[in-house]
Amino acid sequence: MSDLLLGQVLHFTADPFDHGLSAARLDEALVIDAGKIIAVGTAEALRRQYPQARVTDYGRSLISAGFVDAHVHYPQTAIIASWGKRLIDWLNSYTFPEEMRFSNLSYAQDVANRYFDLTVSNGTTSVCSYCTIHPESVDAFFTAAATRNQRVWAGKTCMDRNAPEGLRDTPQSAYDDSKRLLNKWHGQGRASYVITPRFSPTSTLEQLHALGTLWREHPECLMQTHLSEQTDEIAWVKDLFPQSRDYLDTYESQGLLREGAIYGHAIHLTEREKSRLKEAGASLIHCPTSNTFIGSGLFDMGGLKAAGQRIGLATDTGGGSSFSMLRTMAAAYEVGQLAGRALHPAELWWLATQGSARSLHADALIGNIAPGMEADLVIVDLASTPAIEQATRRADDIWQALFPTIMMGDDRAIRATWVAGARIHGS
Ligand code: GUN
Ligand code: ZN
Repeated sequence: MSDLLLGQVLHFTADPFDHGLSAARLDEALVIDAGKIIAVGTAEALRRQYPQARVTDYGRSLISAGFVDAHVHYPQTAIIASWGKRLIDWLNSYTFPEEMRFSNLSYAQDVANRYFDLTVSNGTTSVCSYCTIHPESVDAFFTAAATRNQRVWAGKTCMDRNAPEGLRDTPQSAYDDSKRLLNKWHGQGRASYVITPRFSPTSTLEQLHALGTLWREHPECLMQTHLSEQTDEIAWVKDLFPQSRDYLDTYESQGLLREGAIYGHAIHLTEREKSRLKEAGASLIHCPTSNTFIGSGLFDMGGLKAAGQRIGLATDTGGGSSFSMLRTMAAAYEVGQLAGRALHPAELWWLATQGSARSLHADALIGNIAPGMEADLVIVDLASTPAIEQATRRADDIWQALFPTIMMGDDRAIRATWVAGARIHGS
């Protein structure tokens, strides 16, 4: 049976960074059949064309593609908002002790399910996650996602040095375990495996090389890692890899730079790094709540986007301080203000949906509303709290009506979340 949803249907025909507001469209209705969007248009036309469809009327609420969170660490769910450290300290004090617990499959399953419950209630339909070094953590993640039929990306995090005993693998075991998990999960339903060296400080050159080899054998997969998040980290990479030209070169020299490479943070980049990233067609992921929370710096959205870089948006749970892509858009706006570029609500919304989908090379499947796209949707109440409701009363257009929800909204603004044509949260 098909579903006809009525509301303010926001979708994009192009990138608003390049094409301005003409890239965004508002319609009144969409039709879903067999998990996909099959029509978008006026309420009257679609009611007439699909008289048998089950109708859900969301009134003045916004209907959008579900949020796509392009960089998260689901194993850090329980240590989100841990106080007062910078990156390396924070990893050693909070992250590594928590990640140790994921050798236990039932603990990993418990956190994976909690993570998906939290993100779905925040309107996020797809995520790209790091797991831990334990294969159990990968199985738990993909199993929890499959239960909800979500399109997800993830991989075993590989580390063979500068991590505690119990949280290290080797170049060979990282290769073997990653390969086995890739063969087990990649392309199963809506799952995609991502080759995942954590970052250069926790991998030897031999391990980066082994994962570069695996990626060459499996070019159909994405590869994710971290790049130039904090200045101390960059200085450490320089010490650890004296032969490398810069941080990016530690990856590039081992076959870990090409289209399909996804680099989290990418804040402190040299000119050479920027030009190689652009040439290669790699993706850079902006993690604004994390970059302020851990004190990393200001991502140059204006400069990097104008230079044609491929950019996604992410919470970076649990370095990031929220599960909400609304809160993440607000932080991107605030960071943009400090970095000299006020991002328009249309640009923020595009980044949280299509921009992130594009960074994962999945923009033909998710991140937008158009016939043929998978029906992953979020329904957003634009007056979810008294403070937001009163701020929207004088709104003259959809952007003025939406911006208070971007800046002040949370999970109370999420009326419903639909995944592959089924409502899995809200009403
Ligand atoms: N760099 C390496 N690992 C991590 C991590 O878990 N979180 C963040 N924010 N940065 C990292
Ligand atoms: Zn990260």
